[in-house]
Amino acid sequence: VTVKPLRYEDGALLLLDQTFLPGEERWLRCESAAEVGDGIERLAVRGAPAIGLAAAYALALEARRGGDVQAAAQLLAATRPTAVNLRWALDRALEHGSGPDELLAFAHSLAAAQFDQDQAIARHGAELIEPGSRVLTHCNTGALATGGAGTALGVIIASEPSHVWVDETRPLLQGARLTAWELEHAGVPFAVIVDAAAGAIMARGEVDAVVVGADRIAANGDVANKIGTYALAVLAAHHAIPFYVAAPLSTIDPATPTGAAIPIEERSPDEVLELAGRRISPAHASARNPAFDVTPAALVAGIACEREVIRAPYEDPISRLWNRTSTPA
Ligand code: MRU
Repeated sequence: VTVKPLRYEDGALLLLDQTFLPGEERWLRCESAAEVGDGIERLAVRGAPAIGLAAAYALALEARRGGDVQAAAQLLAATRPTAVNLRWALDRALEHGSGPDELLAFAHSLAAAQFDQDQAIARHGAELIEPGSRVLTHCNTGALATGGAGTALGVIIASEPSHVWVDETRPLLQGARLTAWELEHAGVPFAVIVDAAAGAIMARGEVDAVVVGADRIAANGDVANKIGTYALAVLAAHHAIPFYVAAPLSTIDPATPTGAAIPIEERSPDEVLELAGRRISPAHASARNPAFDVTPAALVAGIACEREVIRAPYEDPISRLWNRTSTPA
């Protein structure tokens, strides 16, 4: 049974608060867009597709309580600026209408489509990886991050790896906490490594492929993903290890020409200066906390989406797939 990051019940959106995982399964009850927005901002729900889904439900909640749906959409869109799935889901929801029933029907349809979409990504992506490979991944891209079967983690599991290297993913440890939890449930052999160990393990010849997710892919194939992804791509290139991205078409933003135009979310310095809520740096230390980085398309060997595996040069396949349907869901 796949874990679900959220569910709609009795006029409320219930979010599995991922900040407490894997230790505790705590559900957060949201009845307004502001409550959902707060949950998105503090990563109670996270992962680009899952926040899009949560935001779609948030609009339905807002309409239901007679709130201002347009204002709610603006508030939600601002919570996490890099993940384009958020804006994509909000735009599509508003195209469906602004009444509570229409918005709820849209959110449900998005949720229902997620599993099939993820499985299609997994099917295409798994063709890139030999069964029995040792695969390295970053952050969390599993069921928790999408509401379906996951993107990169779905690809990895479907490829039947002999071993998965799980980057812990500082500062918030989505790898050590969430990916490890999901792989344990899936019965896939894995080991958590500190982010800084990836290069050394590649140099020892113990990584056959890297597969990661994305928060936004520009029209030229540049990929924004969790901070540390770019460093992995550079390391993979140095060691001649294929570096793949798995993401739905809703993560591709044809309106963003290159990675340079992708807004990068900066989060609180406290997330860097603290570890699991405990201060580790001197009281007056400062920190920078960009949550994402951009990997140039030239370092990406292929992008598995729900239709096919896209290869460089990325401009043509991206515009072809987006012209065929402006509503990939
Ligand atoms: O800050 P997060 O935990 O939301 O970051 C998530 C990622 O970077 C994922 O790789 C991305 O959203 C794809 S999730 C299928």
